[in-house]
Amino acid sequence: MKKIVVGITGASGSIYAKRMIEVLVEQGILVHVIATDTGKKVFNYELSLNLEDWITEMQQQYSNLKLEDNNNLFAGVASGSYGFDAVIILPCSMGTMAEISHGLSSNLLCRAADVALKESRPLIIVPRETPLNTIHLENMCRLSKVGATIIPAMPGFYHHPQTMDDLINFVVGKILSYLKIKHELFKKWEDTKYED
Ligand SMILES: Cc1cc2nc3c(=O)[nH]c(=O)nc-3n(C[C@H](O)[C@H](O)[C@H](O)COP(=O)(O)O)c2cc1C
Repeated sequence: MKKIVVGITGASGSIYAKRMIEVLVEQGILVHVIATDTGKKVFNYELSLNLEDWITEMQQQYSNLKLEDNNNLFAGVASGSYGFDAVIILPCSMGTMAEISHGLSSNLLCRAADVALKESRPLIIVPRETPLNTIHLENMCRLSKVGATIIPAMPGFYHHPQTMDDLINFVVGKILSYLKIKHELFKKWEDTKYED
């Protein structure tokens, strides 16, 4: 069974994390969710949903979903030997990105990201901030240089989205495609004839 860590921080865009978790558990992937304190608050604020309650509800249907304690550095995902396949942090705040880019592992989420980098496993950072200052840009650059993949929460419009769901699915689908996980969240771009 594949094991994926999904990190949720206090950046805007909790809906992306919710959709990602739904899609991964449906595929039978073991999902370890780690939320920061602000991540839980923003999730609640943006989705009018308590993260713990929602996970408990999801667990009625899916046994392959686990909510980790961000303060528990004794968790399996804190170690390289646990052997998770990837870490996806979405949405990723500039604060968490700064911590990871400087090698700080003071909570479970940053530790799992650090483990992914040291073990050369995919670390996908989905930053959400605008405008970006030079510190943000430099931190993205630092992470990219050490092997992380930056997939900004930046939906495209060439697939003619009709709903907010289409926009969310586009970003989530891009991450899944990168990890070579099959999905039908958006139609693949094919040879297209453009006419004026
Ligand atoms: C409603 C709300 C939206 C926020 N949106 C963003 C955002 O899009 N990007 C960001 O970097 N920080 C955002 N923040 C600020 C972060 O939550 C804050 O920097 C926090 O300390 C991040 O901590 P964490 O990385 O431990 O979750 C937002 C805060 C709130 C309350």
